[in-house]
Amino acid sequence: MRKGKKRGRSEPGSTKQPWNKYSDNPPDFANLASLYPSFKPFVFFSGGGRPRIDWTDYNATRELTRILLLHDHGVNWWIPDGQLCPTVPNRSNYIHWINDLLSSESFGGGDGSSKVKGFDIGTGANCIYPLLGASLFGWTFVASDFTLVALDWAEKNVKSNPHISDLIEIRDSKVLLPQCSEEAATTVQSVDDDNKSCSIEPAVLVGVVKDNETFDFCMSNPPFFETFEESGLNPKTSCGGTPEEMVCNGGEQAFVSRIIQDSAVLRQRFRWYTSMLGKKATLKLLISKLWEVGVTVVKTTEFAQGHTSRWGLAWSFMPTARKILAPPLVKKSLLSFMLECIKRQYSAVDVLQSVEEFFKSCGASCKLNSSTFSVDIVASDDQCNTILKNGITDVDSARSHGYEKKQSLDGSSLQVPEDNLSFRISVFQQMPGTLLIKGSLQQKDIPLSGLFSVVFGSLEESMKSKFCR
Ligand SMILES: C[S@@+](CC[C@H](N)C(=O)[O-])C[C@H]1O[C@@H](n2cnc3c(N)ncnc32)[C@H](O)[C@@H]1O
Repeated sequence: MRKGKKRGRSEPGSTKQPWNKYSDNPPDFANLASLYPSFKPFVFFSGGGRPRIDWTDYNATRELTRILLLHDHGVNWWIPDGQLCPTVPNRSNYIHWINDLLSSESFGGGDGSSKVKGFDIGTGANCIYPLLGASLFGWTFVASDFTLVALDWAEKNVKSNPHISDLIEIRDSKVLLPQCSEEAATTVQSVDDDNKSCSIEPAVLVGVVKDNETFDFCMSNPPFFETFEESGLNPKTSCGGTPEEMVCNGGEQAFVSRIIQDSAVLRQRFRWYTSMLGKKATLKLLISKLWEVGVTVVKTTEFAQGHTSRWGLAWSFMPTARKILAPPLVKKSLLSFMLECIKRQYSAVDVLQSVEEFFKSCGASCKLNSSTFSVDIVASDDQCNTILKNGITDVDSARSHGYEKKQSLDGSSLQVPEDNLSFRISVFQQMPGTLLIKGSLQQKDIPLSGLFSVVFGSLEESMKSKFCR
């Protein structure tokens, strides 16, 4: 949970989450202190007069979480001393991302008529995800854990909120272990040779999910670390966390591998399997595992809140609705996007130069024409690969456009057509602070137009994260 990567700058693939109310509006401590007297003792004013709290004080971070849940979500909440204390903005990011996945068109979209049902693996004493999911979106949850304190307090937190308590069931993940041993042992062998038998640890999904149960998604904030020492104490924050919450054999990679193994058994009984991760390196390793077990879609995102980054990984075995994803062919050779709310210091020239730099940095040859405000680009298949690799969030998108993955270990290389991709990017001023970016493919053949749309998507992601507020 601690020790997430510190963010120095915006990176390719990082995701702004505009729907998360905390994205651009961090909690106003002064206002909260005036509304909640119990919070007031924890707020002090820095030299510049800014209200602050001492992030190294567990009581302060816990009280902040308590009042944010109450103030912003109408949720009553508490945890005993030492239990992992979640930060509401960070946990909200993950919930909102799942909401995006559910409403994405990847599987042709749901009909929206039935209640969304989620499974929170390792809900903790804090039970934060079910409380947020139920209060924000009315989702129902099965929330699992195996420690007595987690099960007891998660139940207490649910019961303290009668308006949503019917939506959340707390489930012990170790009760059903014997059933898991039989069922999981066979799959574990086929997925991970190092782990041939079901251990005596609590089950993850297989064995906890009941016969005939289906879910829209599962989620997990896994124990990230292999040892409690590794989890360390971040001197800048105090979020608590017991060894059971922070540590498991093999760390997050082993834990999420177990979710992958179980997903390979349960397959379409979940629309989406997801997990949060603390290290980007783990993400790449797990993506290659996912293709091995035959998933149809992989999605990733970066959760950036304050100075810390986490990563989200999602996969599915549902058949993808390619017809819906693929835009009409005629439109694929002409693409566009808007850059709105451009930061004041940037002009159209900066954007144009940045487009050139984006493709040059991948080795593509570029010709900038400042009178027509355009850049002509020719990119080889290797150079396109580099662009797609940098924009890891687009792996599934590239596949959906008909490109097969190379059998490489990092799981992110993509085969592209033999021919070079030749296209022009033009920048048009629409009004102050808004630019229209157009891309036109010079070749009109079908496979290249699919690749072009994925490459253009990477450019859009990069330009928006760099120039837009
Ligand atoms: C990092 S904590 C996350 C708690 C909470 N979801 C949050 O985000 O703050 C991980 C939780 O997973 C639980 N856990 C570990 N292995 C588990 C398993 N096999 N089944 C269910 N819960 C498990 C731990 O007890 C702990 O509460």
